[in-house]
Amino acid sequence: MSQHQSGILPEHRRFAIYLEAKAQGATEAIRAGSKAFYQQLTQLQHQFPDAGLGATLAFGQGLWRDIGHPDSAGELKDFQPLGKGLAPATQRDVLIHIQSLRHDVNFTLAQKALAVFGAALVVEEETHGFRWTEERDLSGFVDGTENPQGEQRQAVAIIAEGRDAGGSYVLTQRWEHNLRLWHKMDVSKQEKIIGRTKVTNEELDSETRPATSHVSRVDLKEDGKGLKILRQSLPYGTASGTHGLYFIAYCATLHNIEQQLLSMFGESDGQYDAMLRFTKPVSGAWWFAPSVETLLAL
Ligand code: HEM
Ligand code: MG
Repeated sequence: MSQHQSGILPEHRRFAIYLEAKAQGATEAIRAGSKAFYQQLTQLQHQFPDAGLGATLAFGQGLWRDIGHPDSAGELKDFQPLGKGLAPATQRDVLIHIQSLRHDVNFTLAQKALAVFGAALVVEEETHGFRWTEERDLSGFVDGTENPQGEQRQAVAIIAEGRDAGGSYVLTQRWEHNLRLWHKMDVSKQEKIIGRTKVTNEELDSETRPATSHVSRVDLKEDGKGLKILRQSLPYGTASGTHGLYFIAYCATLHNIEQQLLSMFGESDGQYDAMLRFTKPVSGAWWFAPSVETLLAL
């Protein structure tokens, strides 16, 4: 039985902290830090049972191979820029994704993470996400509606068998919105960009919504089968400054997420996601989140 990490599947968590770090020095410190992080997580889960605390520790391709896993996670690779640079690559070595119902508990775990890894990690991006009203993105559109539900979440996000069982591939992309520009567009224009209605959150008819609408770009089929992923994104930022969506998706196969990205950035049929008119990614990285057993055996 392979246990997946606790940050992958939870629903309706209210806050998240996303840390992206470079590794430095001996890999032994990463191995030891990973196990110590897991102990700290378990301790906080016991201390705050109502917080619904979960976390994921995931690795970039280079470090994952270096810490002794040359043959696992076969699809894992470094993120490469897409759409002539519209989607930049900022591949780093370690991702820590913390989510729960309490920002204070998340913050405590983030501090513990920094303490246990010490000088072995240099954090280059730290983003604090929050669930906004009605689970809406800052664009005002409900985000997460078509996410897999119930048992489907595990079926979509977690590798079921083989040496990587219990593991999951991850994409992170921090997006910055230009809300001033967005709010200048009328609602019917915004709805054509997203592909759903704003207030009532209904999908626009696939025959009539533009091929460049976000939903049309990412609602893909291959051999008649939908390419499903599990999204755990949250809004982040300050009201007066930088803000947007920290996009994070988990999947049992990197392929599904990648096909959606290629379709958004003109790499499959030359069409770009209409959302790019008001928002842009400023980071991009692929990760592998091993099972708990694999993590503890590093
Ligand atoms: C659906 C927002 C980036 C994949 C949606 C929906 C919204 C949304 C409002 C419709 C409601 C829902 O089903 O969740 C955004 C925003 C993004 C973003 C604001 C960035 C600024 C991405 C990226 C991917 C992606 C980068 C994939 C790599 C999906 C998928 C769906 C979806 C798979 C469900 C489509 C369906 O089956 O109908 N997104 N999204 N999104 N998005 Fe995104
Ligand atoms: Mg759909």
